[in-house]
Amino acid sequence: MKTEFLKISGNTDEDKKIIEKAADVIRSGGLVAIPTETVYGLAGSAFIAESAEKIYAAKGRPSDNPLIVHIAYPEDAEKIAYPNEIYYALAKRFMPGPLTIILPKKDVIPDTVTAGLDSVAIRCPSNPIAHKLIEVSGHPIAAPSANRSGVPSPTTANHVLEDMDGRIDMIIDGGECEIGLESTVVKLDEDGCTILRPGAVTAEMLSEVCDKVTISRAVVEPAIANDIKPESPGMKYKHYAPKAEVILIDAPSEVFLDYVKKHGEGHYGVFVCNEDAGYFNGGVMLLTGPRGDAREASRRLFSLLRRADEMGLERVYAPLPPMTDDYLAYYNRIIRAAGCRILKLGTAKKIL
Ligand code: TXA
Ligand code: MG
Repeated sequence: MKTEFLKISGNTDEDKKIIEKAADVIRSGGLVAIPTETVYGLAGSAFIAESAEKIYAAKGRPSDNPLIVHIAYPEDAEKIAYPNEIYYALAKRFMPGPLTIILPKKDVIPDTVTAGLDSVAIRCPSNPIAHKLIEVSGHPIAAPSANRSGVPSPTTANHVLEDMDGRIDMIIDGGECEIGLESTVVKLDEDGCTILRPGAVTAEMLSEVCDKVTISRAVVEPAIANDIKPESPGMKYKHYAPKAEVILIDAPSEVFLDYVKKHGEGHYGVFVCNEDAGYFNGGVMLLTGPRGDAREASRRLFSLLRRADEMGLERVYAPLPPMTDDYLAYYNRIIRAAGCRILKLGTAKKIL
């Protein structure tokens, strides 16, 4: 199949035509990659079972991993699910935006979208292109991240093209994603919510609305996330992974930099903050932004991992981030990209 690549130019008439064309593709059961504020999504109608099947096939994704359904307005959740008070309290504060809420689903959503679950994950994106497409198509839109399964999510339209050229009908180029990591996913509890996947809406932010916010152990313990027995091979936990080996190092920053200087092997890259850039001369520097800037490091993470592969790097050395509220989403992704292995001051330690 030929994949059409269309760029949003800022010209209202042309952009409107692109959205209308994409809406036709969605209504007729095709797939369009779209920008959102988090990462690019691979969009298909959430009302058409075959669209979901096409999404799984294009991504090479196991069909037991449910898709997020995107809606134009928080109250549209009522058409496809059973929202409650906590949903509306969270929606008021965080929608549109990078928060996905799991609700009991209505029958209009085919089982293929939710991988047979009786719940559906709902998100209301703030990106104006995503918003317009949902509105104009008149369909809620099922959209996982628009990458081939297992590799880092795409944060530019060119990343999508690398993974999806020839596999989907259309790609809309709306520039770089502002956030760079996928949305926070929560399930609702009687007295609050539980974070299943951390994102830009953090536990502290959710606590402003919910009395009780729980972080699922699976967020920092991937063995539980994958529901795999501890004796299973570590490779199974690898997600968001580039071809290059990611070596995560738990050490103070000077010790980290010294270690890489002395032991960096082959054609390697190193994650450094802007302030430490001058310190390095051996490998390829992959700049994570200003020191301590969790938001900027998160925005760049997937793009840096993809750049490592574009440059043919064999391995990438990266410092282990702190497990704090602002770095939790970054932490959650990078430990998976590293196959959950952490090198602690010279000793390889597996965190399971
Ligand atoms: O930011 C995002 O959320 C992006 C953009 C495109 O919106 N989408 C995204 O989708 O990251 P995806 O498919 O890559 O990740 C969806 C996550 C998966 O971890 C999936 O298991 C979980 O949400 N999920 C979806 N439906 C669920 C459900 N009913 N119950 C529990 N988890 C669910
Ligand atoms: Mg994904």
